[in-house]
Amino acid sequence: MTDAWPVVPPAAGVPACGPPTFEIGGAWWVTRHADVRTALTDPAFRVPAVDTGAPGTLAWLRGTVSRFSPPERHTERRVIGVTALSALDPDELRQEATRRTAGALDRAGEHLDVMRDLARPVPLRILAGRLGFSDPVAAGTAVGAVAAAYHPGADATLVRRADRAVATLLALSPPAGPEVRANLIGLLVQACDATAGLIGAAAHHLLATPDRRASGVPPLAGVGTADLLAEVLRLDPPVRATRRVTVAVARLGGRDLPPGSPVLLRFDAANRDPEAFAEPAAFRPGRPGAGLLTFGAGERGCPGDRHALALATGVFDVLRERCLRTDAALRHAPHPTLRVPATLEVSVR
Ligand code: HEM
Repeated sequence: MTDAWPVVPPAAGVPACGPPTFEIGGAWWVTRHADVRTALTDPAFRVPAVDTGAPGTLAWLRGTVSRFSPPERHTERRVIGVTALSALDPDELRQEATRRTAGALDRAGEHLDVMRDLARPVPLRILAGRLGFSDPVAAGTAVGAVAAAYHPGADATLVRRADRAVATLLALSPPAGPEVRANLIGLLVQACDATAGLIGAAAHHLLATPDRRASGVPPLAGVGTADLLAEVLRLDPPVRATRRVTVAVARLGGRDLPPGSPVLLRFDAANRDPEAFAEPAAFRPGRPGAGLLTFGAGERGCPGDRHALALATGVFDVLRERCLRTDAALRHAPHPTLRVPATLEVSVR
């Protein structure tokens, strides 16, 4: 059976694991599992500061969400998101994702674009509805516009579009103070690309091709979707890296990083660290190991991990039953740290 496991080669540019290195572009790259975990949990490493902006703009949103908040504001803002998520039942999210995916496939013709028709809209519309946004379809569209410009350095046209989308989202959000509304929108923005990327990567790596079906080998039959997704998250993470900056001399992997050093924590490399995972390149659902880092770790680790997995499982359970992969080449949307397929066509049964 093991030769039926998919091979998931590292994406272009994933470095090998080793001590921290100072790279062109002026950041330290951290690639070993233990070093990434240390940097995620050691207070000497902080999330880089962001500027805020006029109320109701993209810059204001960035300056108000927990994700980019300084330590002194982080906990109170994170609680807003964690509390809202704790009211959602992951099982119910999974079932709803299954129901909507099955409905979309019933309505589709012979082919469907997984990214456009399922991976992007299904999780977002479900989350927006469950979090109390009044028009989940409009909210989902607006979140996409915000996500496209969310990380600092986005182009001015995208930022103007995102400013309008933030205004839309504020109008659709449930009644609450601005900080609560911002952090509810923050949940949707954080969920958007990463969850879509996971579903896209799973479809790309795991769906059967017509040839494999014709030869009567149903690959991965009998393996639970949750275990499959965990290996996809490890070997082809939709969030490839995250940033920190040192605020004191920080000892990491035998190196002293001076204060003010930008640091790039490479999840894509650390998830293939042989010190953390035996035969790291092998796709082994249900493997023991040090734990994947794709959801981060510590006080800023992803609070939506169970929700993301539930939604992706709901979508992928149906895809694996009813869809076959085509041979079209896969292209990813350009982004410094995310890896999300731009389009992904499948044939539908
Ligand atoms: C496969 C999907 C997802 C992946 C891989 C992912 C990954 C991550 C990572 C790595 C971080 C930490 C970043 C850092 O420490 O610099 C993070 C933070 C966060 N994620 Fe996710 N995420 C996913 C889905 C979601 C979903 C579905 C939600 C909400 C429903 C969500 C909400 C958040 C929030 C609010 C934060 C910021 C937490 C804080 O400020 O402390 N994420 N995510």
